Amino acid sequence: MKPYVLLNAAMTVDGKIATENSSMKISGENDLIRVHHLRKKYDGIMVGINTIIVDNPKLTIHKIPSEKTDNPTRIIIDSKARTPLDSKVLNNQAETIIIVSKKAPIDRVKKLEEKCTIITSGETSIDLKETMDKLYKLNIRSILLEGGSTLNFSMFKEELIDEVSICIGSKILGGSKSKTFVDGNGFDKDNCVNLNLKSCEKIDDDILLKYTVQYK
Ligand SMILES: NC(=O)c1ccc[n+]([C@@H]2O[C@H](COP(=O)([O-])OP(=O)(O)OC[C@H]3O[C@@H](n4cnc5c(N)ncnc54)[C@H](OP(=O)(O)O)[C@@H]3O)[C@@H](O)[C@H]2O)c1
Repeated sequence: MKPYVLLNAAMTVDGKIATENSSMKISGENDLIRVHHLRKKYDGIMVGINTIIVDNPKLTIHKIPSEKTDNPTRIIIDSKARTPLDSKVLNNQAETIIIVSKKAPIDRVKKLEEKCTIITSGETSIDLKETMDKLYKLNIRSILLEGGSTLNFSMFKEELIDEVSICIGSKILGGSKSKTFVDGNGFDKDNCVNLNLKSCEKIDDDILLKYTVQYK
């Protein structure tokens, strides 16, 4: 069994979600408020370690009224236990689980263990299927996946994403090294992931598209 996974992101008209090494605000305030309402509905919120290092996000609900108990459990995919000890995700506003691999340096793991829960999965990179199973057993039945590009690809590859919502901000970023919505190694032309369009909504200057995912 696995938690239900919604991948949510904001991208520019040319499909970028960030520059090569810094984050940027892509969608407008009302889209961000929508995302915080989403966070309230999900048991967990998941990101890759590079997103933690580049953005240092809190991953809590802070744009709408909420209680501390409304915050989803923060889940970080971090095979080498690189999460900085002063990261905002390690504050006491919500639970945090860091998923590390068997190769993570033990001294780093011990230091992080003082601040959050550690789960081990995978030999060198994280075994995402096993991770989902372990999270489900911890009663995490729904996960909001918030990037970045590399984790998004792996999650599609492992067929773990059920639904996609992508907000297109009225911006062009360009740059062959800018991060796109889904990077990784990519699929070959016969094996791309098919989506079913469910809705299309204008939010101020942004467009919100919602899809379900159709695996072969
Ligand atoms: N616009 C948006 O909606 C949005 C949302 C989120 C993020 N972003 C942007 O995305 C950028 C970061 O994206 P990113 O692609 O560089 O990194 P990422 O997806 O945040 O993190 C990827 C890292 O996760 C670790 N990992 C471990 N096991 C993995 C597995 N099985 N599959 C995939 N990753 C695994 C790897 O690092 P280790 O080997 O060290 O474990 C990998 O390099 C940032 O610039 C951020 O601003 C934008």
